[in-house]
Amino acid sequence: MADRSVRTAPLIVAIDGPSGSGKSTVARLLARRLGVPVLDTGAMYRAIGLKVLACGVSPDDREAVIAISESADLELRPSAYGVAVVLDGEPVAERIRTPAVTEATSRVATYPEVRRRLVELQRGCAARLGAVVEGRDIGTRVFPDTRHKFFLEARAQVRAERRHLELLARGQEVGFAEVLSDIERRDARDSERQDSPLRRDASYVVIDTSELTAAEAVERMVEVIRNREES
Ligand code: DC
Repeated sequence: MADRSVRTAPLIVAIDGPSGSGKSTVARLLARRLGVPVLDTGAMYRAIGLKVLACGVSPDDREAVIAISESADLELRPSAYGVAVVLDGEPVAERIRTPAVTEATSRVATYPEVRRRLVELQRGCAARLGAVVEGRDIGTRVFPDTRHKFFLEARAQVRAERRHLELLARGQEVGFAEVLSDIERRDARDSERQDSPLRRDASYVVIDTSELTAAEAVERMVEVIRNREES
């Protein structure tokens, strides 16, 4: 790989894909391999979802959601290997991973005004430091010019199994069928919204993680990045 000490532009790797495709784990491992921070943009949308619920506002109340997102004290705080999402002075941590926040977030993420503010923060943070950035619109909207774009996907059944295990590990008792139908509903909302839908084009390298471990997916990505950086 090119010597990073002589790079002129920060290294930005975009990873997009649906829930449960393995983005978060793969992004974390890849960032560590590349020596750049990882930015989980979903956590930023979740922070707004959390705040909307905490304010007792319906995620469908467009005006109120936009007002909350515009006034929210949201900060990205770089740490050793990641970028913490800080809401009102507190890292959001696990509070954003509940089913209620997940559902609210999927709705608030459809509003262009909410997206615009978060995209600005994402660009400001990653353009300075370089980063592995994961989300839904990173290669299409946030960093369309980066040469490193990956689209992770996996069969819906496999994605729901992963998500189910994750929820059970957090002590959240929920049936598999419900997890699968939630994932399918959120997939549809992500792909069908007007502003920045989940899409991939020919500039992406597609990796199906259904039969891969995270480490195997990362190896493939490192190989692709290495080849491109050297060419
Ligand atoms: O990746 P995740 O499940 O934590 O994302 C939470 C929600 O935010 C999900 O509904 C998709 C949405 N999202 C988005 O619209 N754009 C992004 N760049 C990242 C997430």
